[in-house]
Amino acid sequence: MAENYSVTPWEVKGKVDYDKLIVQFGTQKITDQLRRDLQSAVGELHPMLRREIFFSHRDFDIILKEWKEGRSFFLYTGRAPSLGMHIGHMIPFVFTAWLQKKFGVNVYIEITDDEKFMRNLEYSLDQTRQWALDNILDIIAAGFDPDKTFIFQDTEYIRNMYPLAIKIAKKLTFSEVKATFGLDVSSNIGIIFYPSLQIVPTMFEKRRCLIPAGIDQDPYWRLQRDIAESLGYYKAAQIHSKFLPPLTGPEGKMSSSVPESAIYLIDDHKTVERKVMKYAFSGGQPTVELQRKLGANLDVDVPYQWLYYFFEEDDQKIKRIAEEYSSGKMLTGEIKQILVEKINSFLDLHRERRERARDMVKDFKYEGRLAKAMWEKIHE
Ligand code: TYM
Repeated sequence: MAENYSVTPWEVKGKVDYDKLIVQFGTQKITDQLRRDLQSAVGELHPMLRREIFFSHRDFDIILKEWKEGRSFFLYTGRAPSLGMHIGHMIPFVFTAWLQKKFGVNVYIEITDDEKFMRNLEYSLDQTRQWALDNILDIIAAGFDPDKTFIFQDTEYIRNMYPLAIKIAKKLTFSEVKATFGLDVSSNIGIIFYPSLQIVPTMFEKRRCLIPAGIDQDPYWRLQRDIAESLGYYKAAQIHSKFLPPLTGPEGKMSSSVPESAIYLIDDHKTVERKVMKYAFSGGQPTVELQRKLGANLDVDVPYQWLYYFFEEDDQKIKRIAEEYSSGKMLTGEIKQILVEKINSFLDLHRERRERARDMVKDFKYEGRLAKAMWEKIHE
């Protein structure tokens, strides 16, 4: 039966059934056992794991098993730059920075100024490069280690990646890429070649690569896993996240192209308050009397979901909010106000870190210990 949702690297539509998606994409659910194994390896669990925002994986169990035996791995994630990142975009970066702190491993972050340019007729290369520089500040603000993190723009680092990129490209046929990404014969040839560039960083080291990212990126990793071993590398492991829903309703994902659906990292206090109060989709009842009597439906309530997924890390507090709001003790206006305060204090801190990041860009891109070593390496 056709599903009433769809997830591709460019679009998420409908209310995603994440359990079904695991079956459809052939990934594995993150089990209680796996969470316990991670906790015993690093001493604690990030709230995004406790709350199952990161819910699916491939070979994460192998990564942990090998880690126990003394074998290390590296982390890889990325971003197609746009004019201003939104809160949903921070999920993989916040989580990857946490993994880096816990395991002390290298992180590679690909900024695909090429992908963004080739996929959108209306964008110039100057624009996507400019956005890359801007987005890198937000990414650094997530808290990466400047000596163990390499952030690179494809249009700058291509010379070092090109030999490996063409080896990968030679293993992928047009018909595979076409079927995987829904391209057709009118697609420009740049975007047909592009998947090999998103695959290259999975082979930056001769160790296992672990990719934390939204599950929309999974098609790339399916191709990678088909060909990695024939090139002498490991199949990439992944840990997949769900999507932060748009402010305007529980379906799809927050998207930069629909401004009222997103809170941008540059939104000021007033804008945050206005957007949440005006647009946040509520599972509460239409009148105070009915809300007191019937309570809210948390399954569709966006303010609750944002608190649960990202903004309220305290398990006791989120439990209390769930109880009071679903029983009618708490009103819609009250939960929205809690969310506004949480978002604004997150953004205040983020903007401070973003300002400090300006002086660190050169370390992450060129001069830090890992960055320097990477510029001396040609990937084959
Ligand atoms: P991009 O720029 O579309 O997305 C960057 C990352 O953000 C995740 N994401 C979200 N996560 C939660 N809620 C949302 N509403 C939301 N919207 C986006 C995406 O899943 C992704 O992890 N082709 C890639 C760039 C890239 C990349 C990579 C991504 C290159 N190499 C390696 C991940 C890993 C892209 O267009 O990402």
